Amino acid sequence: MKEKNIILTGDRPTGRLHLGHYVGSLKRRVELQNSGKFDEINILIADDQALTDNADNPAKIRDNIVNVVLDYLSAGIDPTKTTICVQSALPALHALTFYYLNLVTTARLSRNPTIKAEIQMRGFTDEGLPAGFFTYPVSQTADITAFDANVVPVGEDQLPMLEQAREIVEKFNKIYGETLVLPNAMIPENEFQRRLPGVDGKAKMSKSLGNCIYLSDTSAAVKKQVNGKMYTDPLHLQISDPGHTEGNVVFTYLDALCTDEHFAEYLPDYANLEEMKEHYRRGGLGDGVCKKFLINVLEETLSPIRTERAKWEQDIGAVYDIISSGTAKAVEKTNATLARVRRSMKINYFEDRSIIKEWEQLLRNAKQ
Ligand code: TRP
Repeated sequence: MKEKNIILTGDRPTGRLHLGHYVGSLKRRVELQNSGKFDEINILIADDQALTDNADNPAKIRDNIVNVVLDYLSAGIDPTKTTICVQSALPALHALTFYYLNLVTTARLSRNPTIKAEIQMRGFTDEGLPAGFFTYPVSQTADITAFDANVVPVGEDQLPMLEQAREIVEKFNKIYGETLVLPNAMIPENEFQRRLPGVDGKAKMSKSLGNCIYLSDTSAAVKKQVNGKMYTDPLHLQISDPGHTEGNVVFTYLDALCTDEHFAEYLPDYANLEEMKEHYRRGGLGDGVCKKFLINVLEETLSPIRTERAKWEQDIGAVYDIISSGTAKAVEKTNATLARVRRSMKINYFEDRSIIKEWEQLLRNAKQ
């Protein structure tokens, strides 16, 4: 059997998507969707995963499902090519998670670097750590394998998740026979896109730090973040001073976002980013010019997304229908995988009545 090319990826609906999501994963998903190279593309709105650390606030998740879908659609996800579905409505994922939980140890879960970092970020003590949160890598393995995905486009922070998923798949296939597809992570080739820092230069964009640029931000809000929060090079006091481009967040963003076409259009003094950087390092290029260029690049990236969002916001009924029919399709697909898994595990008791004969034989043998 020729293996199909299937993508599954997802996001937790805990807030609007930001530029970090866009350059780290969403942009790539749109390109892959339009490449025609995949047999199936699925995007999961991971509301159950979002609940693992928001059990006391389900309204936040409920509210943000629509925001995340609007962000997808406005960034170019095409529901005729990509299936968008909601995790909590896929019962097969819950069953798969329950079986996979037996194939990992708590020690292995404790070593997962992503979980470790996330526990620390949330300030969970052992007493405060929800078991559901601690085990979400297992549920994420269920997400991936339920769709038979071989390709999982994610940001760099998710690499340990994929490693853990591969281990579970290998263990499952070893114990129960070849059943699950081994998934591969796909991270951006451009290293600056893998983990875009916040506008303040901190490691990650995060709502609580107020250092995000959201896909749905107005141009005024984007300008404010760049001009107000982006520190450049503290040693570059005068325009004529030589400057540093490394660790300079304006250049990090340009590294992640700008193309030679942007230079032709907005800053024709330079052919490309390398020429601009050389000038900055030499001295004589002011931060104001750099920021203005970055704002132009950001606007060119974000304004089509903004326009699309405004259109979709006028028709939330259509948005609802998209995730409702996407979810119905995903129910079929994930149920089929669960049936296959149960067959491999020999717990498919009620698929047909063949076990009656088996049990009868067993009892006859016991009497002999
Ligand atoms: N954990 C991912 C994140 O925080 C979201 C996610 C849930 C996901 N299920 C997934 C990503 C399956 C890839 C595949 O961004």
